[in-house]
Amino acid sequence: MDFYIMTLFPEMVMQGLSASILGRAIERGHIYARAVNIRDYTTDKHKKVDDYTYGGGAGMLMQAQPVYDAYLAVEKMIEEKCAPEHKPCAKRRVIYVTPQGKTFSQEMARELAGEENLIFLCGHYEGVDERVLEEIVTDYVSIGDYVLTGGELPAMVMVDAIARLVPGVLHNDESAATESFNNDLLEYPQYSRPEIWHDKRVPEILLSGDHAKVDEWRLEQSIEKTKRLRPDLYEKWKARR
Ligand code: ADE
Repeated sequence: MDFYIMTLFPEMVMQGLSASILGRAIERGHIYARAVNIRDYTTDKHKKVDDYTYGGGAGMLMQAQPVYDAYLAVEKMIEEKCAPEHKPCAKRRVIYVTPQGKTFSQEMARELAGEENLIFLCGHYEGVDERVLEEIVTDYVSIGDYVLTGGELPAMVMVDAIARLVPGVLHNDESAATESFNNDLLEYPQYSRPEIWHDKRVPEILLSGDHAKVDEWRLEQSIEKTKRLRPDLYEKWKARR
C-alpha cells in the first residue's frame, strides 16, 4: 500500500514514519511512504505558498495553486508507479486532515487499509483555499475535537493506524485481530514475567495451560474493562449482541 503525504514539512513526516514498525515495513516494502513538499510546486518567485484571506480575518491561507500542482505531481507519481506492467490505478482517495472532518476511528482505518494508494493533504496556517479542496478532496477527516498547529501529526496518526493493518506490517498477525476496538471491546489485561511483582500475582488461570479457560477469562476481562473504562463502547457492544 502506498501513502503520499502533501505537506510543508516533509522531513517531519518522513522522520515520524521511518522509525520503529513503520520504518521496518517501509524498508521491507510492505508499505511505501512519500512526503511531497507543497512548496516545491509554487510558481511564486519567493517560494510563497500562503496569502491573506479575502474578506479579512486573522491569519494566512494556503493558496490553491501550489496545492493543486503538488496534487497533480502526486497523481503522476502514482501513474508512473502503476505503469506499465500493472492494471490502471484505482480511483484515488484524497484525505484532507482537518478538525472539521469526520472523526477518525478504527473502523475507518480498516476501510482505508483496503485502498491501493492514499493521498493526505496537511493544512497549515488558517487552512486551505476552498476551491482547491472542492476539486481534489474526497474525504475530510479529523483525529478529534481539538485543534493542532498543522495536519502533519494527524496524517502520521492515520498512516500509522492504517499501515499496521496492511498484511505483513505486524509480525504477529494475531495482534491486529485481538486488539482493542475489534468487536467494540477493549483488549483484556496482559502479564509478563515475573509471576509476582510488588506483591501482585499473575492471575492463576493464565498459568493453568487450559486455553479454553484462558479465552473465556480474557473475554470476561475485556467485557469488564470496557464497561469500566469505556461505558459508551460497552453499550454499543451490548446492543450488537
Ligand atoms: N489539523 C489541526 N487540527 C486537526 C485535527 N484535530 N484533526 C485533523 N487535522 C487537524
